[in-house]
Amino acid sequence: MTMDAKTTPAAAQATVQAPAIAHVGVIGAGQMGNGIAHVSALAGLKVTMLDVRPEALERALGVMARNLDRQVAKGAISAEEKAAALGRISTGTDYTLFAEADLVIEAATEKEEVKKSIFRALCPQLKPEALIASNTSSISITRLAAATDRPGRFIGMHFMNPVPVMKLVEVIRGIATEEPTFQAIQALAGKLGKTTAVAEDFPAFIVNRILVPMINEAAYALYEGVGDIRSIDTAMKLGANHPMGPLELADFIGLDTCLSIMQVLYEGLSDSKYRPCPLLVKYVEAGWLGRKTGKGFYDYSGETPRPTR
Ligand code: CAA
Repeated sequence: MTMDAKTTPAAAQATVQAPAIAHVGVIGAGQMGNGIAHVSALAGLKVTMLDVRPEALERALGVMARNLDRQVAKGAISAEEKAAALGRISTGTDYTLFAEADLVIEAATEKEEVKKSIFRALCPQLKPEALIASNTSSISITRLAAATDRPGRFIGMHFMNPVPVMKLVEVIRGIATEEPTFQAIQALAGKLGKTTAVAEDFPAFIVNRILVPMINEAAYALYEGVGDIRSIDTAMKLGANHPMGPLELADFIGLDTCLSIMQVLYEGLSDSKYRPCPLLVKYVEAGWLGRKTGKGFYDYSGETPRPTR
């Protein structure tokens, strides 16, 4: 029996050639954006990075140069490869820079309204066949895609921090994502040296569905006095072989990001087991967002991080 395209839509679509990605746009010059630009440029892709703040772009270029230096120092890449990678990156504040991009990866703040307004500015500047990926760590890909003119060419591509080191990219299809888009992103992740895990489009996907409630639980353990900051982190580092304790990791991710992921889980799954810990909320309200502000569960102003309670 032969099956027609109606009965095998995925297989039929898979024969459509995935678009080749040679030029990547990155929106957002924060820790994720600069990591994505870093690995893309090192893989030989042309990279255009945009941020609304020119000083953030300057800072990101400095961070990338330093992180590439680490790789040179340990012999993973040569000084020439570092220079060539930096030479492939251009930066700017204007969306018209993306006119020739094959793919634009959005890595802006984890706020749905911010991301949607970025897509409104971005879409009119793109060539019709260009793909859009969001590095969102928790927001619905289907909903973000619906705010663009190309839901079929929209996908979730979730990198882990620090991007040059972490081997995983979570790939999330929205309800409308087409097979060639999925194939193109799988191929790109391979080119960047990453392994993919495919997640369905449910709140926080796989990694953060599991990781961030653990961090929230660590905040509850602190809040309820089960252990102090050092005990909780030591327990999980030595007792569960985690490279960082959960509170140290929360500071590394950013407490604001952890809180917004908990809120997405709490609201998206309507289950009280995901309620954000009041102590986590308090730290965020204080502006103690972790390493990026110099203070979170630890204070980073001295030689070595010091617990803040
Ligand atoms: N760029 C390039 N290389 C880097 C780097 C960077 N930004 N950061 C670290 N490295 C390299 C170092 O040069 C070093 O390389 P070698 O081992 O080859 O010498 C290696 O990574 C280890 O670094 P360090 O020795 O400085 O420090 P470490 O051993 O303490 O490791 C770490 C640091 C890799 C960050 C490790 O602590 C770790 O894996 N932590 C957990 C990170 C994690 O869980 N990330 C996921 C966060 S969740 C997320 O990102 C999803 C989300 O949406 C919130």
